[in-house]
Parts: sequence; C-alpha cells; structure tokens
Amino acid sequence: MEPKTIKKIGVLTSGGDSPGMNAAIRAVVRAGFYYDIEMYGIYRGYEGMISNDIKKLESKHITHVLERGGTFLKSARSAEFRTPEGRQKAYNNLKSHGIDALVVIGGDGSLTGAHLFYKEFGIPAIGLPGTIDNDLSGTDSTIGFDTACNTAIEAIDKIRDTATSHDRLFFVEVMGRDAGFIAINAGIGSAAAAILIPEKKMPIEHLVDKLRIRTKAKKASNIVIVAEGGKSGGATEIAALVSKHLPYYDIKVTILGHLQRGGSPSSYDRLLASKLGVSAIEGLLQGKYDVMAGLINNKVVYTPIKKAIVDDKSVDEDDFRVAKILST
Ligand code: F6P
Repeated sequence: MEPKTIKKIGVLTSGGDSPGMNAAIRAVVRAGFYYDIEMYGIYRGYEGMISNDIKKLESKHITHVLERGGTFLKSARSAEFRTPEGRQKAYNNLKSHGIDALVVIGGDGSLTGAHLFYKEFGIPAIGLPGTIDNDLSGTDSTIGFDTACNTAIEAIDKIRDTATSHDRLFFVEVMGRDAGFIAINAGIGSAAAAILIPEKKMPIEHLVDKLRIRTKAKKASNIVIVAEGGKSGGATEIAALVSKHLPYYDIKVTILGHLQRGGSPSSYDRLLASKLGVSAIEGLLQGKYDVMAGLINNKVVYTPIKKAIVDDKSVDEDDFRVAKILST
C-alpha cells in the first residue's frame, strides 16, 4: 500500500497488562521522535480514546519506564468500544487531536479493536503482541510471556521447598485463560509431576495413576501445574477430584493469579518490546497497516491482524513429550 503521510501517532495499551508494555511504549515513542513524529499517549486503552484522555508525550514521560512492570498509560477492557457509537466517539476524539495513525499494544481483543477501527475509519493501525498468555500467532513470543513464566517458576520453586518438607502434594494454578503456554513452560521449568492445560484433556484417572507411580518411586515432591480454564476445571476442582482417589495425601492448592502479570520485564521481554516498538513505527511509515509486528526466529514479521488473532497457535507437541519423559 502507498504510505499515507503520518505526522501524529497515538499509542495505547489495552486488555490485561503484561511486563514489557512500558518498554514497548518507550520504544514506540522514541522511534516516533527519531522519525520526527508527534507522539500521543492514549490513557486506559480504548476507554481513554472514547473519553478523550489523550496527551502529547514528551521525552520525560518515557524516562525510567523500560524497567518497570505494568503500563504507565494504564489499561482497560472497554465494552463501549465494542459498539459502533463508542468507536465513532473515539474516532472523533482522535481527529480533534489530528492523530493520523495508531499503535495498539495488547492481546487478541485489543488487536481486534485496532482491526475494526482500521476497517471502519481507515486509520492506519499496527498492533504489538502484549499479553502474558502468548496466544497470538505471528510471533514466537508475546511481550510479557517470558517474564510471566519466570515469575511462575520462581514461585513454584518456593512452593517446592515447603512441599518437600511436608511431603505434600501441591496443585499450582497458573494464568493463561484458554492457552496452556505458561503452564507448559513453567511446568517443564519447575520439574512438575504433571501439567494440565486447556488444549489437552488428561483424564483424572491418568493423573491419579501417575501420582501413584511417583509415590511408589519415592519422588521427593509432587507439584501439579494446572492452567486456569482447563477442561476439567482449575486447580481447586482438580485437587478435589484427586483427593477422592488419594485420600492419604496432604493436598494444598496455590493460585498464582495476577502475581504473574507484574514485575520488571526479563531481558528477553525488554529486547522483544524494544525491537517491536521500533518496528511498529517503521511499519506504519512504510505503509504496513492492519498488521501485527511480531518476532519469528529473531526476525521481525508483519502479520495481518485478522490472521494473528485466530486461535491457531498451539502448544508444541514436542514440549508435551519432553514434559512426559522428565516427569516419570
Ligand atoms: O489475558 C491475560 C490474562 O492475564 C489471562 O491470563 C487471564 O485469564 C486474564 O487476563 C485475567 O483478566 P483480568 O485481570 O481482567 O481478571
């Protein structure tokens, strides 16, 4: 597509926050300044676009943010933006500031918003994958996923200490909504006895058998990782089912929850966010609209948003094989 002239770009973060969002905003804004573009921060995601919470950004706004978790632009899930009236209000506000392009950092819902907005109003928009869930196609990893896995592993290591001391069986629930990426990574990385994810059903009898075998083998500790949104329920439900079969076990449940969304981004997430932030601005200037910038085999790739948000990225089968071998 022939690039439009772009002088003012708005940036926003939307949906569940993820570590590295600040690093991504900083990279987007710095790259914008490098190419002589006026940069605008849209606060609280699409909510701020509708309520006109939009401010011109200066260098001082992005100083010392790279290393901070969360997002200084704040985030929200906007029900109003899902309506044509909400999007019209948002468009009018963007026009009043003269903003002629957008960078949207978020997960599938946020990128869907950018796609709709481009389709309806022709505003050049580019998405960056910002979610701990890693459930977007068109990128090997989403911004925040690596840090969330590290956070989960650090927490599980601590749980293992107490689990071993008391010979307890722990069920640890990790985030990931409909995706098992955090569970499989954190599970392999923390020597889990078993990993339960939404994409693959494990009959409760299999899990019970596995735990019985491990008990006979006198394994030092047993930690089962359960992804939220799993087919048989979360960690609490699974623990209740298992306890009926293994009444002699002292069973505990830990839900890691939003702990996984916070914290300073890892080195990988900082690099990913920085590369993609620069690529977002360069992509817009080259006329790449309605796409998501991602990193595949360490190369920046622009994927149509419509393709990036379809749920076809699945946990690697080989990861299951590795997890199985290592948990016997
Ligand atoms: O999409 C990121 C995520 O952290 C999911 O893993 C989780 O299911 C969801 O957001 C929680 O959302 P909220 O913070 O709105 O409860």
